[in-house]
Amino acid sequence: MNVLKTKEDMQAWSLAKKREGKTISFVPTMGYLHAGHVSLLELGRPLSDELVLSIFVNPTQFGPNEDLDAYPVNIENDLKLAEQAGVTAVFLPNKEEMYGENYQTRVALDHLPHHLCGKSRPVHFGGVATVVTKLFNIVMPDVAVFGKKDYQQLRVIRQLTRDLDFNIEIIGGDIVREPDGLAMSSRNAYMTPEQRKSALCLSRSIGLARKAVEAGETSAAALIREMEAHIQSFDHTDIDYIEFCDPVTLDPVETIEDQVVVALAVQVGKSRLIDNALIDPPQ
Ligand code: PAJ
Repeated sequence: MNVLKTKEDMQAWSLAKKREGKTISFVPTMGYLHAGHVSLLELGRPLSDELVLSIFVNPTQFGPNEDLDAYPVNIENDLKLAEQAGVTAVFLPNKEEMYGENYQTRVALDHLPHHLCGKSRPVHFGGVATVVTKLFNIVMPDVAVFGKKDYQQLRVIRQLTRDLDFNIEIIGGDIVREPDGLAMSSRNAYMTPEQRKSALCLSRSIGLARKAVEAGETSAAALIREMEAHIQSFDHTDIDYIEFCDPVTLDPVETIEDQVVVALAVQVGKSRLIDNALIDPPQ
């Protein structure tokens, strides 16, 4: 497994593989890998000859009061998991390498970032779109794999890939959960055992909403009230948002008549947790 720390080395590696006629799958991450990240590597592995993982805690997608400095790091373990998953090259740049002196350019989308997480994290999706554009140009993959855990991010990536004419197939990987239903996240590491118990409120409240929709409830407002009451019955929880949206545009939906995505963000102690699911009304 090659570990490449400069853009130049990474690009040269990818170009050499392409010249040999090899295809490349790519999984971008911020490291501190868990089974969710590994599932994306396993999805990407059989799709191409080569499998590239990037590990970069991207400062431009964190707001001023967010957890950039506290973001967990364990490169040694990440490299071990990468090797086991069949990664052939790891791109591991530092901040100066990615955004050198006099960096000026940002990639911005018009609509998708103004929904859901974008409302309380106004710089987040611009930072994600910018770094993913750069990573696509550096790694030059044929296929890139992203998790549905970050549903809005996956929508942003699909949109920018289309809008900026990247010849890259975007694959969405299912959410990997702990046995009790909590979506795996690097940020779960910040929680105390008490908070960890409260964190179950996200997946459980989605379960309640799904049941209610399947039983015929069509009012998003009523569903949100039920989810709020459930979440507020747990300690250490502070709801950022709960929304029912169109799965493609992410525009809010008031009456559930077709498939919707329910998405929520809840602060549990120091961890801001997100979860989502697609829900189909009964036919
Ligand atoms: P990070 O949070 O490290 O996540 C990397 C990828 O793993 C993302 O595509 C994310 O959706 C996916 N992922 C995280 N938890 C998952 C889970 N429980 N099940 C399935 N997939 C999961 O997302 C980022 O990094 C960054 O924004 C990045 C795209 C790398 C740009 O900086």
